[in-house]
Amino acid sequence: MSLPLRLGVNIDHVATVRNARGGLNPDPLRAARLAIDCGADGITAHLREDRRHISDADIEALSALCRELGRPLNFEMAVTDEMRDIALRYSPHAACLVPEKREERTTDGGLDVVKGHNSIAPVVKVLREAGIRVSLFIEADPEQIATAASMGAQVVELHTGAFCDALREGHTDQADRLLQTLREGAAFAADLGLEVHAGHGIDYETVTAIAAIPQVVELNIGHFLIGEAIFLGLGEAMAKMRGLMQAARAIS
Ligand code: PXP
Repeated sequence: MSLPLRLGVNIDHVATVRNARGGLNPDPLRAARLAIDCGADGITAHLREDRRHISDADIEALSALCRELGRPLNFEMAVTDEMRDIALRYSPHAACLVPEKREERTTDGGLDVVKGHNSIAPVVKVLREAGIRVSLFIEADPEQIATAASMGAQVVELHTGAFCDALREGHTDQADRLLQTLREGAAFAADLGLEVHAGHGIDYETVTAIAAIPQVVELNIGHFLIGEAIFLGLGEAMAKMRGLMQAARAIS
């Protein structure tokens, strides 16, 4: 019997559209409230160092909203002193540490916790001591997973972007190999006592294989859902995604 699978909705790209024109619309806070009303298990937002989408004021408002509505906020952050201090100020339910490069369009690849051990481990420690659940966004690589566990992270979020791209582009052999790596990584992480999440690039086509991995208990989905909301509305897009997640889970 598989564990229940939660849906975290990443609302960054509501802010991307708002910022394209400046001003206040569309409002990510309104999107977060709607997502929660429509059954999101949590809200994810990434405050990037260049503030290209989510702003500091958004994080302040989202953290108050999630507290008011009793839903977890998953604060995605680069491993910097500035972001650590912001996390400590708002004390979100969870902080997900991600790699960040200014020139990238989105988060390319997972955080290298092996190479970055000495700078990442102290941040994990200080966030944990503040009562924040720490998640590390990494590739499904055994050395990365073992290092995440040894640093004291409670959660790993496995990067599904390469698998999703390969499947969508019809590179079936490569997609199969990457899926197997995700499966083995999820099982290894769970054996080490880590909670396993997955995210990046998930859409209606790619969700089925990922949701069927029994150790994965949370998917964080943003860009596709926000895009799909243009056509279906956010509630219907989420319901369709949730239906696919549950169907995949039922047969895993
Ligand atoms: N999880 C993490 C750690 C991310 O950085 C992102 C992208 O911001 C997502 C999930 C969501 O990815 P997508 O927007 O492709 O669904």
